[in-house]
Amino acid sequence: MAATDVPPPDATELLRNAAQVRGHAYAPYSGFHVGAVVVTADGQVFEGVNVENASYRLTSCAEQSALTARATSGDRSPVVAVAVVGDGDRPATPCGGCRQTIFEFGPDATVYCAGGDALDTPLVTHITELLPHAFGPDRLGVDTERR
Ligand code: THU
Repeated sequence: MAATDVPPPDATELLRNAAQVRGHAYAPYSGFHVGAVVVTADGQVFEGVNVENASYRLTSCAEQSALTARATSGDRSPVVAVAVVGDGDRPATPCGGCRQTIFEFGPDATVYCAGGDALDTPLVTHITELLPHAFGPDRLGVDTERR
């Protein structure tokens, strides 16, 4: 394997990672804890959790936190996979805003969603299935590669 070839992320491992980091969620208002992991084409992994606020609208979703961690690191390679795990046994699917943000950095991302009590039965989907007819950088003639 060439140095630049990165093996595809292992879904089970990603979901376990998201479930584990979910324990760091700050969710005293909703009581709904979410962990997210994003993987870039470079093979780097970034974690995030939901962070709520007494001024409810200032809440950050877990996906948003993970994508912010990626940007902060300086990694500009596309997001290829996102794993999201919430409380309970139903898959935690990204909210509308998070779909848009995932699309910005990972227009070809596979998205794995699970409930923490049902990690072995994830919903496996693609960002374009979650966000059909997406409005993205290309529509504005912007090439975001490496920006
Ligand atoms: N939440 C996420 O972290 N990600 C989503 O995509 C959906 C919702 C969080 C936000 C809030 O802290 C809690 O779940 C309940 O909405």
